[in-house]
Amino acid sequence: MAEKNILEKNIVEVLLTEEQIKKRVKELAEEISNDYQDKEPVLVSILKGSFMFLSDLLRNLKIQCTIDFVAISSYNGSTESTGVVRQLLDLRENPVDKDLLIVEDIVDTGITLNYLKKNLLTRNPRSLKICVLLDKKERRKEHIKIDYTGFVIPDKFVVGYGLDYQEKYRNLPYIGVIKL
Ligand code: IMP
Ligand code: MG
Repeated sequence: MAEKNILEKNIVEVLLTEEQIKKRVKELAEEISNDYQDKEPVLVSILKGSFMFLSDLLRNLKIQCTIDFVAISSYNGSTESTGVVRQLLDLRENPVDKDLLIVEDIVDTGITLNYLKKNLLTRNPRSLKICVLLDKKERRKEHIKIDYTGFVIPDKFVVGYGLDYQEKYRNLPYIGVIKL
């Protein structure tokens, strides 16, 4: 067997391959393109984790849309959400009367998305929906309605395709379980 590269040394399991992700992202984009046919949604990407998902989703959308970014942190370099959410960057554009679609890498406890949803709703968008690539359903602490889900995954800490462990591993092209 070939030597694993330095990135892959601590990956104990490939959960989703590049091909699986590509196929599913395309399907999600088709669904979203259908649902937003006569609209021009603003895709609100939560940094940093969702940047790769956003760029692939965006490339597959067949509608007029714009993008904007927020940065939110509920982690302190650990693998457990602290429950304390900090907003580090806010939208550039005013979301009033816009159709917002939050794009997130993963929903775990639901705290981050609930925080952002509440915050954005105070600014009177026309609509607000949520699209996540990964859903760790078993870990939910707060209910949150997800409108588009890529994959439901087991309760394991995953990295790659934008997701990090202590800021690293985002550049893996697939999603893998890391040995902590
Ligand atoms: P929540 O607030 O607990 O739902 O956490 C959501 C955030 O935690 C996501 O935006 C991710 O940044 C991070 N997160 C949760 N699970 C994982 C994981 O398995 N790998 C990497 N980041 C994760
Ligand atoms: Mg995140």
